[in-house]
Amino acid sequence: MHTQATDLQAVHQRVTSWLEGKPVDWMLVCGSGMGRGLVGEGEGSLGLDIVDTVGLGQLGLPVPEVAGHGQSLVYGRLGDSHICVQTGRLHPYEGIPIQVCTAALEGVIAAGARGVALTCAVGALNPAYEAGQLVALCDQMALFGPTPLRGPKFIDCSEIYSRRLRKKIHALATEIGALGRPLDEAVYAHARGPQYESPAETKALRLLGGDIVGMSTTYEAIAVTAHQLPLCGIGVVTNAASQEGLSHLEVQQRSEAARGTLAKLLARLLASDPAK
Ligand code: HPA
Repeated sequence: MHTQATDLQAVHQRVTSWLEGKPVDWMLVCGSGMGRGLVGEGEGSLGLDIVDTVGLGQLGLPVPEVAGHGQSLVYGRLGDSHICVQTGRLHPYEGIPIQVCTAALEGVIAAGARGVALTCAVGALNPAYEAGQLVALCDQMALFGPTPLRGPKFIDCSEIYSRRLRKKIHALATEIGALGRPLDEAVYAHARGPQYESPAETKALRLLGGDIVGMSTTYEAIAVTAHQLPLCGIGVVTNAASQEGLSHLEVQQRSEAARGTLAKLLARLLASDPAK
């Protein structure tokens, strides 16, 4: 449980001085089982040419304690693109205040990021989905979830996940042809967690219009939308929601198993211009 107060302004300043004015074309936030592998070397990695790394702790943030999450910001190059990767995510269910959960992301946005990609492990509400497949997030339901916004910030959420970037992701997915099936577009339903959903909750979320369920991502998406940056989200379906006997280890392992395909798709996306 996180108990220390975090000075958000100081975190943003540390991120800005760590980046030293370097360009950031894309900020990538990694979900369960993804971060360390994506910034590592060889098979299943992005092939990032790493320039610098800083621990989230060094930025004055709590470090993610959830297994399968990295604990740093990594800056590097991918082709002509400059990328910042948050290798592990902070979640409100860890007892961390919501604005602290989004502080590294918002710090990088404040330092000039031009586009954001969020990744996540998710449970399937849509019965047509299979464990191991990737989905492109097309919308979200965060009515009951946390928001990093404070005060009268009545932001437009009519297109949280950029239609243009979704089209691009589809084209790239077809190009790499390794997904085994067309990339589905999914509505993400936020669940507060850390407990997995009961069958009744799964049924309710499906009836409300969710295709996938997870305990993250929506609050980061709201933060990015408030800054009006191009945003996309890619989910790895790790299980059927309220599957009997589900464990975080299984989620992590399924997410890791899909990392090769995810890395191929992300590497192409992140090498492209977020504004095009
Ligand atoms: N529910 C919520 N979050 C998740 C799940 C799930 O079934 N799988 C991966 N993250």
